[in-house]
Amino acid sequence: MKLMVSIALLFLLPSYASQTSVVHIESTPKPSADGVIQTETREIVSLVCILTGTVDNKELEWRRNGAAIKLDDGNKENRSSVCINPVIYKDEGAKFTCQLKSNSSHSASVTLNVTYLAEISGSENVTLEEEESLDLQCDMRANPLVTSVTWKLNGTLVDLSTGGFIVSNNGVNTKLHVKKVDRSLHEGEYQCTIASPAYEERSRTFQVTVTDKTLKFPLMPMIAGLVVVGLTALLAIVSRWRIIARWFKK
Ligand SMILES: *[C@@H]1O[C@H](CO)[C@@H](O)[C@H](O)[C@H]1NC(C)=O
Ligand SMILES: *[C@@H]1O[C@H](CO)[C@@H](O)[C@H](O)[C@H]1NC(C)=O
Ligand SMILES: *[C@@H]1O[C@H](CO)[C@@H](O)[C@H](O)[C@H]1NC(C)=O
Ligand SMILES: *[C@@H]1O[C@H](CO)[C@@H](O)[C@H](O)[C@H]1NC(C)=O
Ligand SMILES: *[C@@H]1O[C@H](CO)[C@@H](O)[C@H](O)[C@H]1NC(C)=O
Repeated sequence: MKLMVSIALLFLLPSYASQTSVVHIESTPKPSADGVIQTETREIVSLVCILTGTVDNKELEWRRNGAAIKLDDGNKENRSSVCINPVIYKDEGAKFTCQLKSNSSHSASVTLNVTYLAEISGSENVTLEEEESLDLQCDMRANPLVTSVTWKLNGTLVDLSTGGFIVSNNGVNTKLHVKKVDRSLHEGEYQCTIASPAYEERSRTFQVTVTDKTLKFPLMPMIAGLVVVGLTALLAIVSRWRIIARWFKK
């Protein structure tokens, strides 16, 4: 029984605290009952903090994940607004808190839930030589998380069991890697595609061209060699010059 009362208190306490707070937030779009504002990238969210009780110091302040937001002078007393324009993917999960400057226990918060899918599109040309390594990557960030990530070569799914392809996903990027390219196996049109529950799927293509291997001169050792030859010649001239000069002095 005692345990149940404490559990009930745990749930009651936060709402009780926010009810006695003299500040509250109004937002467009409106938050859910638990203070979550549903939005997506490129949208605008406007928040207004309103002082509803009487206090000596009416100055308000806003924080984003705990860090103070700079406010204009006319935007602090009684009422203060902030605008998130446009919403970016980094705003996902951000918590905006308005509080009384003189007493932070008077506060109200909202949290953004930003829906987005990485904006991949377009096409890119990639040229590399035989036996070089191939590295392609696509952004795969999304909220909710992507439900599928695929790589195709010339329109068919890349076969990971042959051809030395390695595909790795780390939640931020999806990468396709081939250690040593072979024109017959690896040249062609690659396409990465990401899909999420909230958006149409998105893709990016890469036209990969494999050229013949060129002989690369070891340039640095060559330059070093030439410098040594040059210096030796110079020294030889200088020492001979001394002999000639001495000869003239006689
Ligand atoms: C804030 O409200 C008080 C009365 O509640 C008023 O006297 C004061 O002028 C207001 N300040 C601003 C900046 O609106
Ligand atoms: C801040 O506000 C709370 C809640 O009204 C109050 O209990 C507390 O004494 C206040 N603190 C200060 C320093 O005024
Ligand atoms: C955020 O929004 C997504 C998509 O609308 C939803 O699936 C998810 O449950 C929401 N998360 C929270 C914490 O509200
Ligand atoms: C890729 O190469 C093709 C043909 O060589 C060319 O038409 C196209 O403009 C190139 N694309 C980019 C993004 O450079
Ligand atoms: C992909 O298609 C291109 C153009 O049709 C062709 O040159 C290339 O060999 C193909 N790549 C593979 C791995 O089949």
